[in-house]
Amino acid sequence: FESTVPGGLGEPAVRAVEVPEPGAVTIVVPTFNESANIRRLLRQITESVPARLPCEVVFVDDSTDDTPEVITEAARDCPFPVSVLHREVPEGGLGGAVVEGLKAASSQWIVVMDGDCQHPPSLVPELIASGERTHAGLVVASRYIKGGSRQGLAGGYRIAVSRGATWLTKALFPRRLRGISDPMSGFFAIRRSAVTAEVLRPLGYKILLELAVRSRPRRVTEVPFVFQDRFAGESKSSAAEGLRFLRHLVGLRTASPVARMTAFGLIGATGFVPNLLGLYALTAAGLHYVPAEVLANQLGVAWNFLLIEHLLFRERRRHRKGWDRAGRFALLANADLVLRIPLIALFVRHLGMGALSATALALVTTFVLRFAGTEALVYLP
Ligand code: GDD
Ligand code: MN
Repeated sequence: FESTVPGGLGEPAVRAVEVPEPGAVTIVVPTFNESANIRRLLRQITESVPARLPCEVVFVDDSTDDTPEVITEAARDCPFPVSVLHREVPEGGLGGAVVEGLKAASSQWIVVMDGDCQHPPSLVPELIASGERTHAGLVVASRYIKGGSRQGLAGGYRIAVSRGATWLTKALFPRRLRGISDPMSGFFAIRRSAVTAEVLRPLGYKILLELAVRSRPRRVTEVPFVFQDRFAGESKSSAAEGLRFLRHLVGLRTASPVARMTAFGLIGATGFVPNLLGLYALTAAGLHYVPAEVLANQLGVAWNFLLIEHLLFRERRRHRKGWDRAGRFALLANADLVLRIPLIALFVRHLGMGALSATALALVTTFVLRFAGTEALVYLP
């Protein structure tokens, strides 16, 4: 399908787009208590989309207010199909809602946009035309390329956070995010054929990042847009959402066993801090250094356990009870310590190694064993 809609912002936006079939685009809108924005959003879509591109709108709603009723009411005046998918269990937050919408969508193209009028629907036909023209699987509406801006990002604090997060994310995924200047954008078009719903593990706001990293569309292109001011109500983002984002990043970055082992080692290394602090406190309190070290070591083990539970194996916790996991984890950690000395002796005697290289090899061996044990015995896949 050849597009005649220009990609640049300067040209007149309303020119016809040839479309292959009715319902060429499904617009997925996640909503959480947006009743005051629905009418305006649907009016904006009505004014700028159906004349150029047949569409349907799917709301995926986790609201506790009357948003679903308002949608059903407002849908009567719309010249295109509108549906509401209300979730009783809002798993995965915003990202989880979007994935439900992606699964429900039947069109060739899917556009994801916010329900608070920060994303201009007039850009929808242009996103798709641009994707068709460049044979892209994913078209990102970006605030960070020429012609775009983040006008609606209220406050210096949010701008700084957004910049920092974008920088960190791009640094963590240089390859997967090549060509994406705005991986945090909540406004994008994706081909249905590029969505691999079964590999997605959405967690919070950054669903575009999730798709770019896990679904890996082959070609990506960008179109600039101006992030508008929110129409009514306020952002649903919070400090808790910030923490969820960090967990999301760790989850994405540790999808492969090698990356997971590296993270396991890094977390393990931080255990020295509580260990040394504990040793200091216990010996200062008059305890002999040997039992003090045995106890302080448990502090390091507990610290590691907490970090690993919440960062690395969060999604694999449900197979065993909490005390069971803690017990197994502590057992492995202590077995590591107990095994180390005989292992060094073994390497020295039977492999004829020097004490230093035998120690290094023993450390690496017990580390790998401990990681493999944690994967297989504490957290089942
Ligand atoms: N279904 C559902 N479930 N929808 C949600 C949830 C949820 O848990 N949380 C938020 N939403 C909906 C809101 O109702 C709104 O329609 C949309 O998702 C965006 O939420 P906002 O709370 O308005 O987000 P924001 O403006 O702070 O952030 C937006 O811009 C960021 C870039 O600065 C989003 O698009 C982010 O994804 C984006 O990173
Ligand atoms: Mn918003």
